[in-house]
Amino acid sequence: MKFAIIGDPVDHSLSPQMHEAGFKAVGLDAVYQRIPVKNSEIGQGVRYLLDNRYDGWNVTYPLKEAIIPLLDRVTPEALDIGAVNTVKRVDGYLLGHNTDGEGFVQSLITKGFEFSGKKAVILGAGGAAKAIAMTLAKKGLDILILNRNVEKARWLAGQVSGCGGKASWGCLGIGDWLQKADLLIQTTPVGMKGEEYLFGLRGISPSTWVVDIIYHPAVTAFLGDAAKNGCQTMNGLDMLLYQGVLAWEFWLNRDAPVSFMQRALTEGLRSSDECDCANE
Ligand code: ATR
Repeated sequence: MKFAIIGDPVDHSLSPQMHEAGFKAVGLDAVYQRIPVKNSEIGQGVRYLLDNRYDGWNVTYPLKEAIIPLLDRVTPEALDIGAVNTVKRVDGYLLGHNTDGEGFVQSLITKGFEFSGKKAVILGAGGAAKAIAMTLAKKGLDILILNRNVEKARWLAGQVSGCGGKASWGCLGIGDWLQKADLLIQTTPVGMKGEEYLFGLRGISPSTWVVDIIYHPAVTAFLGDAAKNGCQTMNGLDMLLYQGVLAWEFWLNRDAPVSFMQRALTEGLRSSDECDCANE
């Protein structure tokens, strides 16, 4: 079988190691390749995948939205998020899906987070924030979206409400929300290059769970600050793992060998020293 990741850039992607470890663990004869595809070349890219009989592929920046018109069907999850990160070829048609939000939820479930009746605050309103906000809202969480560009926060809150979720919005900064959040999720790129975060977390309740979806560095200034305040913290590596696990299961209709994929991901990250890691 043949699988791939398409996007631009894809050269630092850790998905090939993760997926191939999964194939090997179950004795499946399959490959997973990186195929660079620019936004302007997406039509040719998909044609190439079809002509060469790829069974499925992941889609990363900047193609997650642009690929939708080229697919025959998309799942309700992908439709609500408005983006596709996983495609499979089924009986001659192309089915698009999104595992980013569910991958995030799964990473919290494995750490023992209880979702019922909780309030989540999301910092940022880009593509990752949208997948997370939509999926958490469907699990019944009350969502507050804070963004530098407040119009985008308002738009995203409107999208979440339009799908039946409970969402409000505001501008990025400290406020009384800090004491009220049960789950605080950092989705902006701030911290990837070792920079300080935009505001401190002094006064945050130690019962708040704090997630930074950045995984390189493993501990951003934001996450370090949260840990100093006694909060349970998690970086984005498990989100990356579980979006991959769910994609693997979507393609192959069987349980993924999670521990093998996790080990490959950790080893891949360790060996890619100069990885500047755009989150996938
Ligand atoms: P992704 O798909 O990874 O979520 P994105 O769609 O480009 O990436 O979104 C990036 C998010 O990070 C946006 O919410 C952006 O805020 P704006 O909408 O105001 O641009 C936020 N972001 C990026 N750089 C930032 C910075 N220096 N300070 C605060 N927010 C920032």
